[in-house]
Amino acid sequence: MEKQNSTLAERKAHIELGGGSAAIEKQHASGKKTARERIAALLDPDSFTEIDQFATHQEHLFGMDKKELPGDGVVAGTGTINGRPVAIYAQDFTVMGGSLGLTHARKITKVMDLALKMKMPCIGINDSGGARIQEGVSALAGYGEIFLRNTMASGVIPQLSVILGPCAGGAVYSPALTDMTYVVDGISKMFITGPNVIKTVLGEEVSQEELGGARVHAEVSGNAHFFAENEDACFDQIKRTLSYLPQSNAEKPQRTASKAPKSTTKNIADIIPADKSQPYDVRDIIAAIADDSEFLEIQELFAPNIVTGFGRIDGQSVGFVANQPLYLAGVLDCDSSDKAARFIMLCDAYNIPIITLEDMPGYLPGTDQEHAGVIRHGAKVLYAYSQATVAKITVILRKAYGGGYIAMNSRHLGADLVLSWPSTEIAVMGPEGAANIIFKKEIAEAEDQATMRKEKVQEYTDLFANPYVAASKGFIDGVISPEETRATLIKALKMSEGKEESRPAKKHGLPPF
Ligand code: HXC
Repeated sequence: MEKQNSTLAERKAHIELGGGSAAIEKQHASGKKTARERIAALLDPDSFTEIDQFATHQEHLFGMDKKELPGDGVVAGTGTINGRPVAIYAQDFTVMGGSLGLTHARKITKVMDLALKMKMPCIGINDSGGARIQEGVSALAGYGEIFLRNTMASGVIPQLSVILGPCAGGAVYSPALTDMTYVVDGISKMFITGPNVIKTVLGEEVSQEELGGARVHAEVSGNAHFFAENEDACFDQIKRTLSYLPQSNAEKPQRTASKAPKSTTKNIADIIPADKSQPYDVRDIIAAIADDSEFLEIQELFAPNIVTGFGRIDGQSVGFVANQPLYLAGVLDCDSSDKAARFIMLCDAYNIPIITLEDMPGYLPGTDQEHAGVIRHGAKVLYAYSQATVAKITVILRKAYGGGYIAMNSRHLGADLVLSWPSTEIAVMGPEGAANIIFKKEIAEAEDQATMRKEKVQEYTDLFANPYVAASKGFIDGVISPEETRATLIKALKMSEGKEESRPAKKHGLPPF
């Protein structure tokens, strides 16, 4: 126990040891840094100013009056990343499992309030068993106060959540209310209740990893936006994310010097196979368009049939939303709709123009999808694009069929510019399906049905499966060659710099959650 007459340096050193040397060794042995080491690794050297280092809990039940919890299990303050201010807190698992009591919560809400007032991003490093059981309702009150601030700050300042340990209850619900969640293989676990509670309540045996390991959340649940191999790689992802974002919604993202795409990327005109039924990786197109071919993919492992992430064009941050023909032909389904819609809203909130690259056969049909609510989930994409007022530009690369044509930032949903490559097909459905329906009678009555079908497919292709019908109606604004894409996008972004658009006054809309 700390002595009353200790010097400042002694007091600080004592607190900075957290749960003590043995607990720190245990933390290191499990491949984890301590809370202070994490803050030091993430922030610019010597930029951290700690707040409430001497705060202590005021509890007395369950022997808490005899328990000293250094820093109350959380390190909080402000600092800089690449010279730009951030608020940060890191829960200290060595102190009672990083569990959250009222003092711990108030340290967090204090830096959140500062972040909102000073208009800077807030980064939360979560390594916590959730509400401190011994504190009962006080701990729940603490989480409530955090959730309220997460919600108030949502879309105003970037909020990034890092999961670096077994996180339960509020330690995962607060991240769920923030903009991005980062997980690390073998270290991050997220669940509303851990395996012990599950065994007690349901009699089910499950490991922490199976229940809520990093891969589970990056690939299956979609709760995580970034997956990294280790903590340092995770911190690098956070720094890269911040470089694309403004400090708050009151600013535009910082511009950087324009850089041409890498000369080693594939020739943009050769990426899409001549056989229109063959897949390709849409990330090759992004690499051929983006500055230095750099792309920070978000939710890479979840719903890979749509690709979302940040890049730059002519030094300007942009958000790419691209159908991925490599998976499920790039269809929109429940998960890919959720993924795209949220990313569109994120870009809109932080003044990041959206570049949509479209090549898809529409929404995924089927009983599974219908029962999983594809109507509701798919509508999120329509809603997100329609309500976004940031610059919205679409390039149709190959196929734009049915609902997909409308959903993927069509002019009808408010796109500012819709461009198409020359060999695209824009129609209600593919020529095969269309011919089978509208020429059903002619095909059935023909002597040589196969030849008749082929002719009718060709007739439909010539009439509708090209960009010129849509172009003649002004539904698309221009037909460009693949080689012109980057230069045209640069001009379009320049043209959009002063964009101002408003929506009818309302308290808030009702997106199809
Ligand atoms: C108090 C806690 C604690 C908690 C962990 N500890 N969680 N103390 N309150 N919530 C303590 C342990 O007693 C232990 O103390 C130390 O932290 C390390 O925990 P271990 O269990 O030894 O670690 P591990 O085996 O890695 O398991 C981690 C864990 C597990 C999976 C997080 O501790 C666990 O299941 N904790 C409870 C999770 C939970 O249900 N929390 C309440 C959520 S409700 P010693 O002294 O032994 O080192 C909530 C409300 C929000 O958060 C609601 C949102 C809507």
